[in-house]
Amino acid sequence: MDIKINNLRKSYDQVVLDDISLNISSYKSIAIIGQSGCGKSTLLRMMTGIEEVDSGKIEFNKHELGIGDIRAYQKSISMVFQKHNLFPHLTLKDNITMILDKIYKMDNQLADKKAVDLLSSLQLEDHMHKKPDQVSGGQAQRASIARALATDPEIIFMDEPTAALDPILTREVLESVKALKSSGTQFVFVTHELGFAREFADYVVFMEEGKIVEEGPHILQRPSSDVLKHFLENERG
Ligand SMILES: Nc1ncnc2c1ncn2[C@@H]1O[C@H](COP(=O)(O)OP(=O)(O)OP(=O)(O)O)[C@@H](O)[C@H]1O
Ligand SMILES: [Mg+2]
Repeated sequence: MDIKINNLRKSYDQVVLDDISLNISSYKSIAIIGQSGCGKSTLLRMMTGIEEVDSGKIEFNKHELGIGDIRAYQKSISMVFQKHNLFPHLTLKDNITMILDKIYKMDNQLADKKAVDLLSSLQLEDHMHKKPDQVSGGQAQRASIARALATDPEIIFMDEPTAALDPILTREVLESVKALKSSGTQFVFVTHELGFAREFADYVVFMEEGKIVEEGPHILQRPSSDVLKHFLENERG
């Protein structure tokens, strides 16, 4: 993944992202960590282009956001949020085939096979004909991840995909995500699950109060700033 962010700023009532710059290449899975309110979700939303920057520049895999048509970039990415956003009236399988059919005009039989394969790869073969409220939160979240994968995105952005789940379901979802590491998909994710970040991310960005304080491939193992050391002592995982 190739990320170039220069002097990114964003304020709402107060400054939320304060002169963020980030230059990352050749890492496949990037975790953004930090205390609640430090700006992680805001940064992630800016990276997906769903929210505009006040000033600064973001370039992702050679797509410069804010220049030209954002739709081409957005077609190349997927997002998974804290709470699944599956369509409640459709089965898990139809949640996937619907997108392949409507947006990507995929042939029905191909779409069907793709949905079944993806749901099976996330251990949902026995649940694909159920609707989201007929499965557990962890199963629904795995179905959202299957749906995020269905469009063969270059990058999947995840904002605390397990925050709404209990520890057992959290482990179940995170194990499924880990199994995707070899799939070639790239990930940028926000998490409070440091054990997961340690195992899954090959690059970690630590934020505090709208700034990046520390970043690198091994900062969880070998933090250098006192703020990160303190943060790691107080978080679980
Ligand atoms: N749409 C918005 N309007 C006004 N303020 C906002 C908006 N979105 C975020 N903020 C503020 O920006 C700051 C950073 O929020 P953000 O959601 O990015 O934090 P976070 O690091 O993701 O926190 P958490 O770990 O709790 O999810 C917070 O003070 C929040 O109140
Ligand atoms: Mg957040």
